Amino acid sequence: MHLSLATPDRNSEVTDLMRRTFTASEGAEEGNLIGALARDLLTTTPSQDLRVFIATAETDVMGAIIWTRLQFETNTPQAFLLSPVAITPEWQGKGVGQALIRYGLTDLQKQGVEMAITYGDPSFYSKVGFQPITESMIKPPQPLAHPEGWLAQSLTSATLQPVEGTTRCAPALNHPDYW
Ligand SMILES: CC(C)(COP(=O)(O)OP(=O)(O)OC[C@H]1O[C@@H](n2cnc3c(N)ncnc32)[C@H](O)[C@@H]1OP(=O)(O)O)[C@@H](O)C(=O)NCCC(=O)NCCS
Repeated sequence: MHLSLATPDRNSEVTDLMRRTFTASEGAEEGNLIGALARDLLTTTPSQDLRVFIATAETDVMGAIIWTRLQFETNTPQAFLLSPVAITPEWQGKGVGQALIRYGLTDLQKQGVEMAITYGDPSFYSKVGFQPITESMIKPPQPLAHPEGWLAQSLTSATLQPVEGTTRCAPALNHPDYW
């Protein structure tokens, strides 16, 4: 298994992986929704606001994670949101998801990103350092259907601090269906 920063020539493989993985775990409707989200994130997000990492075996992509910038009204701290995350069914449960997320966190930290945020299952994301936060601590870009899945971690030595004001996500993610 090899972990790397993905280049745009991998976009269609990443999109296809997202669609297949979510179709297998949650059905065709969710698979198509997340496949479309991945495609839109990869094709409409400015490059400085996007960071994609892949796990490959031989040359096949078997895991992918997409990070996009979260912009606060105050402009600080520098933050990226992790969504979506997918490991192809044949490779699930082998540590690839955690390794790929840790790889991405280390890269973002090196880029000067100060905070990582995600929206998902706390029992999985707590394994890679995320902890639950409240909506008053960091306002989500859209109302949350599952507030218990709103998670963050500091990428500096400072502890997480509340952020004042509103939060803007990548345009492709700014739809209630994803929240
Ligand atoms: C969720 C997912 C990314 C995890 O990646 P993975 O490579 O299978 O996970 P790892 O092998 O690194 O970690 C396995 C651990 O995470 C837990 N885990 C795996 N999937 C989980 C899930 N959906 N919810 C909660 N915990 C999960 C396992 O129970 C296991 O815990 P253990 O080590 O205590 O036994 C992957 O299974 C996947 O792509 N699933 C389908 C799509 C999806 O649900 N994406 C995430 C949306 S929030």
